[in-house]
Amino acid sequence: MPVARGSGCWLYDFDGKHYLDAISSWWVNLFGHCNPRINAALAAQLEDLEHVILAGFTHEPVVMLSERLSRLTGGVLGHCFYGSDGASAVEIALKMSFHYWRNTGSPGKTRFVSLAGSYHGETLGALSVTDVALFKDTYAPLLRQSVQVPSPDWRLAKSGESAEAYALRCAAALENHLAGHHAETAALIVEPLVQGAAGMAMYSPVYLKRARELCDRYGVHLIADEIAVGFGRTGTMFACEQANIRPDFICLSKGITGGYLPLSVVLATDTVYQAFYDDNVARGFLHSHSYTGNALACRAALATLDIFGQDDVLAGNQIKAARMTEALAPVAAHPSVRNFRHIGMIWAFEVETADLQFARNFYQAALQRGLLLRPIGNSVYIMPPYVIGEEEIALLADETITLLNQFTRR
Ligand SMILES: Cc1ncc(COP(=O)(O)O)c(C=O)c1O
Repeated sequence: MPVARGSGCWLYDFDGKHYLDAISSWWVNLFGHCNPRINAALAAQLEDLEHVILAGFTHEPVVMLSERLSRLTGGVLGHCFYGSDGASAVEIALKMSFHYWRNTGSPGKTRFVSLAGSYHGETLGALSVTDVALFKDTYAPLLRQSVQVPSPDWRLAKSGESAEAYALRCAAALENHLAGHHAETAALIVEPLVQGAAGMAMYSPVYLKRARELCDRYGVHLIADEIAVGFGRTGTMFACEQANIRPDFICLSKGITGGYLPLSVVLATDTVYQAFYDDNVARGFLHSHSYTGNALACRAALATLDIFGQDDVLAGNQIKAARMTEALAPVAAHPSVRNFRHIGMIWAFEVETADLQFARNFYQAALQRGLLLRPIGNSVYIMPPYVIGEEEIALLADETITLLNQFTRR
């Protein structure tokens, strides 16, 4: 689909057709395409500095961004290490966790644990902790073994079992694993509250609470991969806030620049930082990417954070989310819809269908109706930019129900 331009929630092709970007261009866009405020910030930054080596040198946007991100975690995760895409942040967090244990006298802690169905990116380290066969199987001989513990995804609960009870049952499985393997385990990595690539699997925050306690008890790091869910997607700035926990590392990317430029960052605690701060180079964290902390990307991130503050976005999103949930009520009640679920600015459901090519066919049919929707298997999800308006919400809901009817006619 060749795209000529974008504006707000809309993408325009070269033939004058337009498409509502209901998945925020792979979950990155927060405040619309070609947002005038982010555009202006970038134009101003272009006059000063586009990029500079971030080894031995630094610049205003990266310092300001680091300080603001630190403040967003109450200063608890006050150290920032920058990368480019989400996967590079995951690589950084995994390497840093392993190296921390090595520097502090536990070189045997080399293993990683993730949730069944998890997705953390597709470079080799990130793919090692990802659990999606489609992306992983071909490259299996290249990957390090990791361990998957049961996912608290409430769709897997027994009939009559609450999401919370199921999450606690999964936490007990995590406990079993850590009790036996903590000596060789560096970190548990999780996608907090929503496992995106698993089809927007959602789970109770009680799992994160228990995971934090268990990681503390067994001396294992907790890495929160908030690449997809950070920056308000689940209703709070970071998903971990809903469990009232602080991970040892937070990975951020996607929405950090409002969906403009590749930037990622790993926030870490002072305890982690101190384990590397040394005159001995071998104890240092020798990891670099040429475009680390790019000035334009950092400026886009600062403009994005400005919008959060100036527009009280999280409060505004609550009103929009209520409106969207109301508009989607006919979808939730549709006889072919299962597991309708919602958190923050994410809605998802499974469609009961015999169509083995459902995802592809639904995507094509949605495009014909002017919607960018991209199901994962038979899970349809809606994850719009936060600037979606009343009329667009109504249109999106109406078109979704029309599509559903088209696909489930018996
Ligand atoms: C939770 C999570 N982690 C990591 C990644 C990888 O990010 P990127 O595609 O920028 O490498 C993604 C991408 O979808 C993701 O959803």
